[in-house]
Amino acid sequence: MYQYTEEQILSMKKVEETRNARFGANIPRMSAEQKDEVLASFHPDYITGAYEELKVGKNKGGKVLHELADLLQGRSRVLDMDIDLTNPDYDVDVLVIGGGGAGSSAAIEAHNRGANVMIVTKLRLGDANTAMAEGGIQAADKENDSPAIHYLDALGGGHFKNKPELLYKLVSEAPEAIQWLNGLGVMFDKEADGTMVTTHGGGTSRKRMHACRDYSGSEIMRTLRDEVFNRGITVVDFTSAIELIKDVEGKAAGAVLMNMETKEILVARAKTVVIATGGAGRLHYQGFPTSNHYGATADGLVLGYRAGAKLLYPETLQYHPTGAAEPTQIYGALVTEKVRSLGAQLVNKDGVAFVNPLETRDVTASSIIRECKERKNGIQTTDGEGVWLDTPLIEMINGEGTIEKRIPAMLRMFGKYGIDIRKEPILVYPTLHYQNGGLDIGANGMTCVENLYVAGEAVGGIHGTNRLMGNSLLDIIVFGRNAGQQAGEKCKSVEVKELTLEHVKEFEKELQDAGISSEMPSPRLLPDYARKAN
Ligand code: FUM
Repeated sequence: MYQYTEEQILSMKKVEETRNARFGANIPRMSAEQKDEVLASFHPDYITGAYEELKVGKNKGGKVLHELADLLQGRSRVLDMDIDLTNPDYDVDVLVIGGGGAGSSAAIEAHNRGANVMIVTKLRLGDANTAMAEGGIQAADKENDSPAIHYLDALGGGHFKNKPELLYKLVSEAPEAIQWLNGLGVMFDKEADGTMVTTHGGGTSRKRMHACRDYSGSEIMRTLRDEVFNRGITVVDFTSAIELIKDVEGKAAGAVLMNMETKEILVARAKTVVIATGGAGRLHYQGFPTSNHYGATADGLVLGYRAGAKLLYPETLQYHPTGAAEPTQIYGALVTEKVRSLGAQLVNKDGVAFVNPLETRDVTASSIIRECKERKNGIQTTDGEGVWLDTPLIEMINGEGTIEKRIPAMLRMFGKYGIDIRKEPILVYPTLHYQNGGLDIGANGMTCVENLYVAGEAVGGIHGTNRLMGNSLLDIIVFGRNAGQQAGEKCKSVEVKELTLEHVKEFEKELQDAGISSEMPSPRLLPDYARKAN
């Protein structure tokens, strides 16, 4: 048994007492006006004091969170180094920076094009947000669904800000992405006849979430990693890209690398470069805990920005409504949306269900914050506050055994601390989960810097200003593969000229002219827990 506080136990009793009455109840959806109101008042993206204007670069004058501004306008690690670019340690066709789902997919497809590919990753291949994804991957491949309906769902969820050509590509190539993964060996949940099991996510009008229990990302990453290794693609691990290299014509042409253990500096020359560095949760924006992997420190955004690429919607972050709020050991860890899609309700300290559990993520997260901060209906936890996620409803609705079968990772994560989610609710609070924005690309995956491609969470614009569940695992596959195909094709006609880091010096000069003199090493590479976020 977990040692809940007296207040928590009393509140849990109210949740139990009201459960039968809530079972099967219709929790109303919000009107568009109600959604706008709760977002404007409670979503962290609307806290103006958390933002500042960028003083340099392509987004000069645009707003980003202080933590990101510090890095985008920080000090390049190469400025104080004497680096010989004339004799590269690696010379490849396609350099992929990042070893998660997007990077692996890109490497596989570039390899298919006959390119000499190298993946460089600051941890190990697969140590990435992809492996931590739980709930599933969207694709409109059932009879009652279509990519057009998927498009409309994602467009509405993204507040109509999605870049149309990117969203079109995402949804129209989704069914093929599922088939590709299935062919590589991903063990999707299937009925006895082989039909894929699909469920709803927040904001979806059709059941199109394909999953592997609640280990979807881990299973997909396992398969992609095997494929990369089986093909013999070069993987340089525990090595970070600390700066992009250009050639004298301004084309992306490689990267300066740093061995994370020995700090040895290495030079990789490449005909095309793919940034697939993932997200930024470990920057703990606004003091939020995170569901992200340790490597999620926005490195790709920093490298791309200094090289002259543009950011799109860098000011919009996703706070997943249900991070674990108790026990403290798993504070901020992801409690998959699938828990709500199977019927668990969000309930306040008095046992009242206060929001439809399948509103879009930004609306749900804001409603939880309102319930705690304004209405004072939250429950005190070790690290802050939370509301209940009434998981026992899942088995009342779907039958005994559903939790073990459909969300075993959740059962185990809480079970380790003596909490049986089949019998008792759990405490949750929003956790920093995803960067909606990132580097701006065209449908060919390339930024405005020639030969610089981006894939995965480092891309901005696919999801507008709020991503729907399951569209991230999808985008790493669709845009990862796309970047690999494009970069693998393009490299055939690229002639790399003399390598240079002049753009870094020019960026530093711009900073100085703007009166910014930062000592903060940038990119961050790993979180700094000396300054504990809370
Ligand atoms: O809730 C989840 O399982 C998260 C999925 C996602 O971010 O797509």
